[in-house]
Amino acid sequence: MTEPIPQFPAGFRWGVATAAYQIEGATAEDGRGPSIWDTFSHQPDRISDGSTGDVACDHYHRYAQDVALMADLGVGVYRFSVAWPRIQPTGTGPANPKGIAFYDRLVDALLERGIAPAVTLFHWDLPQAVQDDGGWANRDTAARFGEYAEAVSDALGDRVAVWLTLNEPYVHLALGYVLGMHAPGLAGTRDLLPVVHHQLLGHGLAAAAVRRHPGARVGIANNYTPVWAVGPDGTRGSATDDDEVAAFVYDVLHNRVFTDPLLLGRYPDGIEMLSAGDADATVLDGDLAVIAAPLDVLGVNYYNPTGIGAPPSGVGVGGLPFELRQLTGYPVTGYGWPVVPDGLRELLVLLHERYAGVLPPIWITENGCAYGGSTVDDDRIAFLDGHLRALRSAMDAGVDVQAYCYWSLLDNWEWADGFSQRFGLVHVDYATQARTPRASFAWYRDLIARSPR
Ligand code: FCB
Repeated sequence: MTEPIPQFPAGFRWGVATAAYQIEGATAEDGRGPSIWDTFSHQPDRISDGSTGDVACDHYHRYAQDVALMADLGVGVYRFSVAWPRIQPTGTGPANPKGIAFYDRLVDALLERGIAPAVTLFHWDLPQAVQDDGGWANRDTAARFGEYAEAVSDALGDRVAVWLTLNEPYVHLALGYVLGMHAPGLAGTRDLLPVVHHQLLGHGLAAAAVRRHPGARVGIANNYTPVWAVGPDGTRGSATDDDEVAAFVYDVLHNRVFTDPLLLGRYPDGIEMLSAGDADATVLDGDLAVIAAPLDVLGVNYYNPTGIGAPPSGVGVGGLPFELRQLTGYPVTGYGWPVVPDGLRELLVLLHERYAGVLPPIWITENGCAYGGSTVDDDRIAFLDGHLRALRSAMDAGVDVQAYCYWSLLDNWEWADGFSQRFGLVHVDYATQARTPRASFAWYRDLIARSPR
């Protein structure tokens, strides 16, 4: 029999995470404007099962039931995102009172159940009107995002303890502007530095807006991955020196481009690979100081390590000098993602060492797995068990981690994969919207109940 998971320290916070477009539905209600995900999901052949987020989990109408589920689970934190186009339907101008009212109701319902709201301000659903003006390639978007953050924090700042400005800017860049797999669906954008820099500047301006509220703690939720050089067979043993170089480059791109400026106040060497224009016209004097204002938390989203090798021709996707390689030798989730719990420990220790002295306390803002629809989900329980042990050992090694949010509370609309990937502790029947907690829900509830307060 395996040993029980060692206890987490008193005060450690357990939570779950979601995102607006993936659960809310009600996309044309109460004055909400269209987002880039509405546009994208309604285009032919963008989403694997042809679905959209028009209804999703209907959380907009069923939020009270979902909060009750969380209360039953016993979580102390709920990380959710605010849909910018509910607050500013065209991405500018005064806040839409009905949009604010929804999040007011949600926040109050959480607080009544003793659950602390952790709000993400941008989880990819940019107002379409902002994209029409260039999206994050346009510097104005950063300023608009700052104004939107001001409006949201003025409405909710008296009750929200933790704010995360952006969700996974790297993924938004890579899938939305390079690979065309996510909204806004652009492929092969040559000059990427503006999309990087304006997201970071938007973060800085939003962070400053939120900080006007006493007691607010501000961070960002980045996607991180241990980068492993692997040979064409997907094993580390067969990696060549060229593969190591490719992995080094990929690590800069995935893990450092959106973190060095925040924590070190400068871009990493190698940023030139993303710039096809005049970098000095993008990064203006003073910007990095705005971006590098100290963070109170660093949100870490971890799913799996990434296998990287040198492309045979020397040039890979987007003209960059690496290619992705499937890791071999590990079990995979229903999504085909390798299950490598120790990758979480490795990653946290790497961040701790890389940013020694400047790393804020970490919140695991996402970690989870998609499996089939069954409510008897031993595979998910094993995933959780393994990842929480790895998290605990990173903490034993000195990494300051304060919270863990499982992705996700509910099965939901998984972006380009529509309803085909189920990450929930709670099963959702999309025909009836019935919610059924899975075995993993009971497992997580027991773990939380056993943990010291
Ligand atoms: C992350 C996203 C989240 C969800 C999970 C599976 O990259 O932030 O919305 O899709 O992956």
